[in-house]
Amino acid sequence: MYVISILTIPIYSVGKSSILKRYTDQEFNQQYICTIGVDFKVKFLKIAGTGVKLQIWDTAGQERFKAITTSYYRGAHGVLVVYDITNRQTFNAIINWLREIRLFGDNNDNMGVILIGNKVDCPDNRCVSVSEGQQFAGQMGIPFIECSAKTGANIDEAFELMATKIILNQMISTGSLEANSSNKKTVDILTYDSCSYHKCC
Ligand code: GTP
Ligand code: MG
Repeated sequence: MYVISILTIPIYSVGKSSILKRYTDQEFNQQYICTIGVDFKVKFLKIAGTGVKLQIWDTAGQERFKAITTSYYRGAHGVLVVYDITNRQTFNAIINWLREIRLFGDNNDNMGVILIGNKVDCPDNRCVSVSEGQQFAGQMGIPFIECSAKTGANIDEAFELMATKIILNQMISTGSLEANSSNKKTVDILTYDSCSYHKCC
């Protein structure tokens, strides 16, 4: 089984936790409950017949948690870069955060990054067009998808896209089609806390 660690980019109130809740629990809450520090979720899925365990670290977008969240980039295989299509500032902010990934990640060559435009259920408030998202993702060489945590549109597809990309990258870099969870590139994010971490999962 592949073990993949993914985290979200801490941009405030774009719907990161809502996307994860929709994906793992099939639920949505209209009320805003800000994430404090970092939350953790697990989801099992199959990609091309192979079992995959997704370990998802959901970061807090508020600035006061930045010192905590940046430490989580080390060891991550993938990053969900989420912006809110109804809020242009969040789209602008992702440029800075993509720089942070390159600075802090230790797995950059194989790191799977995906750009996600959330809240497509609000077309009347749209500030960032589909083509702008596509163009930026194209420049960065990363996949792009728009979704809605509220309706569930494209949520499963976004995670499948991300997991597939990471597994393909690993296959290419190791030259193997076999799942290899002991590979160095699957090191957990919190290596210094690995004992207690493995017990709880
Ligand atoms: P932080 O943890 O503070 O960084 O926020 P977050 O990015 O985790 O955002 P969160 O999931 O808490 O959602 C923020 C607000 O946006 C909440 O009121 C959600 O109900 C709302 N929201 C999230 N996703 C969607 C969506 O797809 N459509 C609509 N209409 N609202 C959404
Ligand atoms: Mg949150």
